[in-house]
Order: sequence, then C-alpha cells, then structure tokens
Amino acid sequence: MTAYLNGQYMPLDEARVSPLDRGFLFGDGAYEVIPVYARRPFLLEQHLARLQRTLDGIALANPHSVAEWSERVQRVIVDGEFDDQSLYLQVTRGADSKRDQSFPKGVPPTVFIFSTALPLMTQQREQGIAVLSAVDNRWLRCNLKTVSLLANVLLRQQAIDAGCAETILLRDGLLSEGATSNIFVVKDGVLRAPSRDHRMLAGITYDLVLELAARHGMPCELRDIADAELRVADELWLTSSTREVLPIVSLDGQAVGTGKPGPAVRQMQAWYGAYRSQVARASACDV
Ligand code: PDD
Repeated sequence: MTAYLNGQYMPLDEARVSPLDRGFLFGDGAYEVIPVYARRPFLLEQHLARLQRTLDGIALANPHSVAEWSERVQRVIVDGEFDDQSLYLQVTRGADSKRDQSFPKGVPPTVFIFSTALPLMTQQREQGIAVLSAVDNRWLRCNLKTVSLLANVLLRQQAIDAGCAETILLRDGLLSEGATSNIFVVKDGVLRAPSRDHRMLAGITYDLVLELAARHGMPCELRDIADAELRVADELWLTSSTREVLPIVSLDGQAVGTGKPGPAVRQMQAWYGAYRSQVARASACDV
C-alpha cells in the first residue's frame, strides 16, 4: 500500500513521523476521509474546501493548492490495491525540536495521505443498524475536522461495547450528530436535521443528502431536534462519506418506527446511488 508523507511516496509500513510531531503530542492537526469509487475520489473538491475551513479554524496554513492536493491524492489512489478505497489525508502543525503548546515558528507541517479498502456496508445498508445515545461531552468547535478525537473515540467505543454500530450524541437534550457521522430524522414525511453550527461537523454526505432532498422535493427542515423527537421518529438515518446513508432501526434497544428501514431512506439511498453513478459517468468523460 502506498502512502504519501511530506513530499515522498513510500510503502505505508515504511512511513515514519517524529515523536515530537504535534499531531502525536497534541492532536494538533486537521484531516479528511474521502470515499473513492472505481479509483475516482468522490466529491474531492468539497472535501478539500472543508479541509481549508478546518485549517483556517485552527490557524494552520494550507501547505498545498487544490491542484497539488489532487495530484497527490490521485497518485495514492492509482498505487492502491483496491478500486474502491477510503482515502485518508492529514495535516499537522509539524514536529518542533521541543514540546511547547504554543505555535512553533518556521516548522513545516506534516502531510500524510494513505488509503485502505472502502468497507462494504451491504448488510447495514439493507437491514439497518442499532445505535445508542450518550451525552455529547466534546468541545464546542465540532464544526472543525481535527485529529483531536479522544472524546469521539470514547463515545464510539460505548456503542461497540454495547454491540451497536454508532453512538448518537445529545447536547443539552438536543441532537448534535453521531460520534463519527451525521444523523437525520424523518417524521410524517418531513426530513429533519440539526442546522450547521459549532455543535456538529457539516458532513459532505449531510450536504449531499439535503441537496438531493431539495432537488427531488422531499420536505426538509433544519432546526434543533429534541431527544424526545428521536424516540417517536418514523425513521432515523446515519450518514457519512464511507457509509453513505444507513437506516437506524433501533435506538437504545427500542425499535425506530416499524423497526425496519422505512420508505424515505430507501428513496434517499436510490437518489444517492443514482447521483454517484452520474458523477462517475461525468468524471469518466473528463479522462
Ligand atoms: N467521519 N460527524 C463526525 C463527527 C464525523 O467524524 C463524520 C465523518 C461525519 C460525516 O461527515 P462526512 O459525511 O463528510 O463523512 C460527521 C469520518 C468518516 C471519520 O472520522 O472517519
């Protein structure tokens, strides 16, 4: 498997960073996870735009232009073992000669890219997943995709320990998102989700789902969603780049709606699949 690290391509198991890297010491960096279908990155531009927003939010200069990122990403994809991949890229504030929380001067950022096989989600997509809920105890800048993920790690592990696929987070009794995903609610034919703010990451999939809903005339509402609304929802969905749109069929051990994936999620999955194919056809014409 090929990785890119600070200007060089190498087998992943040969990639090395300093123990003084600020990503390692402080979680001081930004990242993106981009799905790749048939060796083409999906919505790369949107992911690179979000990376820029995160870097701006943590006052870290972007080391590469969009063209430079694209070139590096393409090379890792081409060298990858699989046609469908999950591509990871990360930028940290680099490795200083000492450990000091304040920003180092004149230290180049660390840039790392690698990819793995895109996980197959066939069963989850068809049958749905079980989730549990927990109090969102993360910081208040969840709109930034930073590598400081300890709170997400602990919250997600709660789900895994309980035999669930994800933890849904509630801050002050309101839905924020999943530990590694966004969450949608369907009630009486209306699609609802929390609006983009500091309490959640504006997912690339979240944006696409909202765009598809608008395009096809599915009524949509962005607003605060109370815990109680989750318990009486007709459908709950999980979205993320690598999992696309998954039906949630159980929340804290209780069935969601009928306990089976509902008609709205089936509709959205179909629109999503059609959009993906359309993008793939368009990008095949570019080559
Ligand atoms: N996670 N919210 C959080 C906290 C996330 O970590 C993610 C994605 C999302 C969904 O964003 P997107 O649709 O852009 O993938 C929302 C990635 C996959 C991860 O950390 O591995």
